Amino acid sequence: MKKKLEDLLNFAVSEIENVETENDMNLIKSKYLGKNSEFTNIMKEMSGLSIEEKKEIGLLTNEFRTSFTECFEKKLNEIKTEALNKRLENERIDISLPGKGIKTGSLHPLTHIRMVLEDLFVSMGYDVVEGPQVETDDYCFEKLNIPKDHPARDMQDTFYITEEMLLRSQTSSVQVRTMLANKEKTPIKMICPGKVYRKDDDDATHSHQFMQMEGLVVDKNISLADLKGTLLKLARALLGENTNIRFRPSYFGFTEPSYEVDVTCFKCGGKGCPLCKNIGWIEILGSGMVHPNVLKMCGYDPKIYTGFAFGVGIERLAMFKYGITDLRNFYTNDVRFLDNFSRKDVK
Ligand code: DAH
Repeated sequence: MKKKLEDLLNFAVSEIENVETENDMNLIKSKYLGKNSEFTNIMKEMSGLSIEEKKEIGLLTNEFRTSFTECFEKKLNEIKTEALNKRLENERIDISLPGKGIKTGSLHPLTHIRMVLEDLFVSMGYDVVEGPQVETDDYCFEKLNIPKDHPARDMQDTFYITEEMLLRSQTSSVQVRTMLANKEKTPIKMICPGKVYRKDDDDATHSHQFMQMEGLVVDKNISLADLKGTLLKLARALLGENTNIRFRPSYFGFTEPSYEVDVTCFKCGGKGCPLCKNIGWIEILGSGMVHPNVLKMCGYDPKIYTGFAFGVGIERLAMFKYGITDLRNFYTNDVRFLDNFSRKDVK
């Protein structure tokens, strides 16, 4: 029996030496110490031995168990350490490597300008309204006091769908819609940014589709001073607090009097430079006091109510503000162009 135990230990030790995984170690353990192991059988056989023999074999089995366990634990530790080292090696991170940059999108410059304008006017109590791009001739021209023989209605300028329907050539049509919808309710304070269409050949300064923002205020006692104050705010919010404006008499069918509004050139501050063609001023929008005929046609009594209106070309503003010389850049979606307007750079 002694010989049996010695042989068993030798077998076990040499088998343990060759094991490589924790799982195989568990198998070895049950093979040598488990219920059906040879060792357990030897223990069972002890019951038939004399007391002397029991003592001797008892000592030997204890020795077997101690030696086996020592050898087993040592190997198990080696396997665990090796597995841990392997894992650490595989999971090593080189924190000095440059990271992968995350490419974020940016707002389109026209969207950015529209949002700045919306924020400004909403802060002054205006509503932001929308109107349809497919519009009636009545709302786009007739009710804006632009008679049938007005040059703006020339087939050259407007995309007509039928005799009555067209693609709106100006957001001013939304003035009509707003007044008709409010039915003498005041005050009306609205802006309408949106797309407009004209039969132009596309080049650096023309596009068959572009963006305008309309503004309309109607109430009792609205005067030219209100228009001036509002447009000064607009110019300064967009182009800087040092900007000034001037009004030049002009003609629009739906306003009387009508004005074109210039801002001091924000490049040279008004001294004269190539951007402002040495004039010191740059035209940015059309405006005026709502024509009494328009008020009347849209359901407001011009003896009681007055109003002002303005319309500004968003592309034109963006071109001056960002020094863009070709209008087509806004619509060709070249990322090299759009990247110039990443959030952190745009003001
Ligand atoms: N609708 C005009 C245009 O497209 C711009 C304009 C001028 C709008 C004067 C207005 C205004 O509201 O009062 O050229």
